[in-house]
Amino acid sequence: MALRALCLLAALTLACAQHQTLMEYIERRILSIEDRISAWHDNTNRYAVELREFKQQIVALMETLEKERQGLRSELDNTNTRVERMERELDFLETQNHAPPCVEVDDKLVEQQVRKVKEKNKAKYERLTDCRDMISSIKSMKILKRLGGATGMWAKDPVAQSGEIYVFNNSSGDTLHHFKTVRDFAASAGTSRAKKIKLPFPWGGTGHTVYDGHVYYVKEGQDFQVIKYDLKNETVVDSVVFPAEEQVPVYGLSPETFIDLAVDEEGLWAIYATKENEKNICLAKMDPKTLAIEEMWDTPCPRENAEAAFVICGTVYVVYNTKLPSRSRVQCVFDVSDMVTNDDAPLVYFPRRYSSHASLKYNPRERQIYAWDDGYQILYKLVLKKKLEV
Ligand SMILES: *[C@@H]1O[C@H](CO)[C@@H](O)[C@H](O)[C@H]1NC(C)=O
Ligand SMILES: *[C@@H]1O[C@H](CO)[C@@H](O)[C@H](O)[C@H]1NC(C)=O
Ligand SMILES: *[C@@H]1O[C@H](CO)[C@@H](O)[C@H](O)[C@H]1NC(C)=O
Repeated sequence: MALRALCLLAALTLACAQHQTLMEYIERRILSIEDRISAWHDNTNRYAVELREFKQQIVALMETLEKERQGLRSELDNTNTRVERMERELDFLETQNHAPPCVEVDDKLVEQQVRKVKEKNKAKYERLTDCRDMISSIKSMKILKRLGGATGMWAKDPVAQSGEIYVFNNSSGDTLHHFKTVRDFAASAGTSRAKKIKLPFPWGGTGHTVYDGHVYYVKEGQDFQVIKYDLKNETVVDSVVFPAEEQVPVYGLSPETFIDLAVDEEGLWAIYATKENEKNICLAKMDPKTLAIEEMWDTPCPRENAEAAFVICGTVYVVYNTKLPSRSRVQCVFDVSDMVTNDDAPLVYFPRRYSSHASLKYNPRERQIYAWDDGYQILYKLVLKKKLEV
């Protein structure tokens, strides 16, 4: 009996020992799996950190690249402006070279005469307004549409409130087109929205203007009549033969225009040229009521390579180009009150356009220029500054 019990105990102990070994084995496996899981964790964390760092590096790299790109772009812009400036200087040199050689005939004498005329006029000219503005630069350009041929003129009455637009298509013709507003003009298919006004005499050139309910236009032919036409009742109310002898085309580049009428804050002006002073452009102040010439000036501005001109506050700005149209620029000014000289006038460049300007009509109320360039109707908004201001 005791022996049997002993045997059982031994067997039990053996089973126990086997069980223990199994348990230990399982525990070891679990520990090893846990170790590996924790290693995975560590690795995953490390990968996450590495990934984050990599991402940051990439972002930083991208930022540097972007900065470099911007740097390149601004350098490119810079180069562009420099090229543009060079182009302008070339244009300028070109016109300089085209300028006629100074006449041998006593330059001084001519200069003195001009100065005398100017001094005489300085005392005489009485301003009607206290307008002291001069051009500083061109703020913007807006191309309205293309209506008509290479030459022509369009303008809005600066005095009348109605804002109506008048179009003289071509350098000769007798049918004026009249649009109710700029918007109407821009939206019109050709002249479909226009009212046609048949003038009693055909016009010549592009030197017409609209002022206070009237069209002032230059009659076609060699007697150079200025016609004042009432737009309300559509009749000629006045006309004069322009009192200058042996007229020549006022702008070297626009052979059809002999008299260019202009309107500014002071009223009506005529820009013209005569055989007597063939090289330069002359200026006259006209009375818009009677068409009488009030005063006349010889300006120092050459006709050669001039394409058009306009007047602002009693200063005429002559715009030059080259025979092969390039960029138009104001390159000569003449101020009847002697406050602006060529030296204080900025060299104002027009944006490069299709051709050269057939006409430039300043509107003193809107301070913009109605331009005709190869059939395109363009508005130039101006930046003005005070005369005598640097
Ligand atoms: C404008 O004038 C041109 C000639 O320069 C002519 O061919 C064209 O038909 C005219 N257009 C209108 C709308 O009168
Ligand atoms: C445009 O004007 C020119 C000269 O000024 C003239 O020869 C031509 O016949 C005109 N064209 C039209 C369509 O009227
Ligand atoms: C047209 O109006 C003007 C004034 O604006 C006047 O002097 C002229 O006599 C009028 N003509 C006709 C035909 O009514």
